[in-house]
Amino acid sequence: MLDIDFVRAQFPAFSQPSLQGQAFFENAGGSYTCTQVIDRLTRFYTERKVQPYAPYEASRLGGAEMDEARTRLAALLGVETDELSFGPSTTQNTYVLAQAFRQFMTPGDAIIVTNQDHEANTGPWRRLADAGIEVREWCVDPETGHLDTDDLENLLDEHVRLVCFPHCSNVVGDINPVLEITALCHAAGAFVCVDGVSYAPHGFANVGDMGPDIYLFSSYKTYGPHQGIMVMRRTLGNLLPNQGHYFNAGTLYKRFTPAGPDHAQVAACAGMADYMDALGAQHGVGAQGVHDLMRDHEVRLLQPLLDAVKDRNSVRLIGPSDATVRAPTVALALNRSGEAVAAELAARGVMCGGGDFYAVRALEAMGVDMDKGVLRLSFVHYTSEAEVTKVIEALDAVL
Ligand SMILES: Cc1ncc(COP(=O)(O)O)c(C=O)c1O
Repeated sequence: MLDIDFVRAQFPAFSQPSLQGQAFFENAGGSYTCTQVIDRLTRFYTERKVQPYAPYEASRLGGAEMDEARTRLAALLGVETDELSFGPSTTQNTYVLAQAFRQFMTPGDAIIVTNQDHEANTGPWRRLADAGIEVREWCVDPETGHLDTDDLENLLDEHVRLVCFPHCSNVVGDINPVLEITALCHAAGAFVCVDGVSYAPHGFANVGDMGPDIYLFSSYKTYGPHQGIMVMRRTLGNLLPNQGHYFNAGTLYKRFTPAGPDHAQVAACAGMADYMDALGAQHGVGAQGVHDLMRDHEVRLLQPLLDAVKDRNSVRLIGPSDATVRAPTVALALNRSGEAVAAELAARGVMCGGGDFYAVRALEAMGVDMDKGVLRLSFVHYTSEAEVTKVIEALDAVL
């Protein structure tokens, strides 16, 4: 079982006087930062804040720490070091990728996008229609928000070059079977781009084993600084036209990140690996064991929350009511505005939000009244049972 006291001791936010008595339920927006990341960020800014990769000590150490971040995170994700790169955000990473595909594809080629995604992994791809690319939509079930792989099979044919879908939607919470979907797409000759942003906070997946060609997530939601992390597997990365400076074309991790990187934040991302290692050491398990401990804890805490809301007349639970098949990112459509209810919950010491969370297409497809939006309660492995009880009691009072 997850040692929750140990876990919470790794997050300075939990001991901040200003945050006492506040149960944090907007983790899908951005997580608290672990101490390992904060320490590295502080050290970089105080000791290593010089142009990296030059032959003086502060610079050498800064560069080495940036390399360490890529090496260790790539190892956690089961990919090669040069297949992992950092960009300012996932939205900017997909934007650059879409430019690369715009040059790579020819009119008559097709891509598949979903209406379950956050806009970041659907809007930039849909714009390829301007270049004569056929855009096919893999649609959610309007009742459940679920993506059915049979529907995908009907959309796949020899014209499809790319399929984009989320590992997990940031409003539906349903976990998509990436391994199975990727195998289907690859068998049809299509590349695969997975938005892992809403899944990664709940455990780093072995991207190498699952097989997608691109896997994206945002480290500010995985206990780190504000970066977008992109896995680009070598075969596709070498096929797509370089989007970086021409003289960097031979370096895979520079090909799809045209911006100069935020050195301090890239280096501090190594702290996420430190944190995962600390969890592993504390529990005597490896990377997969850490993933499973986090997931078990979340599932155990999530089911009572789902049970508390799923049969209420005034509530429509978006996505599955079975905790084992979903992430603890729980959107509720209510008879009034999600934002207004979030404000009432704030007065009761619950931090959460309301709105569309940039998953406009998913909520519209499910018939949610967009003037009201949804209330979203999202938690992660550092959330305690007492906090979930608190949110259930607060919901009882305001709904
Ligand atoms: C599922 C999902 N994908 C993509 C994004 C966009 O990430 P970023 O803010 O790094 O652009 C978000 C942000 O909330 C998200 O929840």
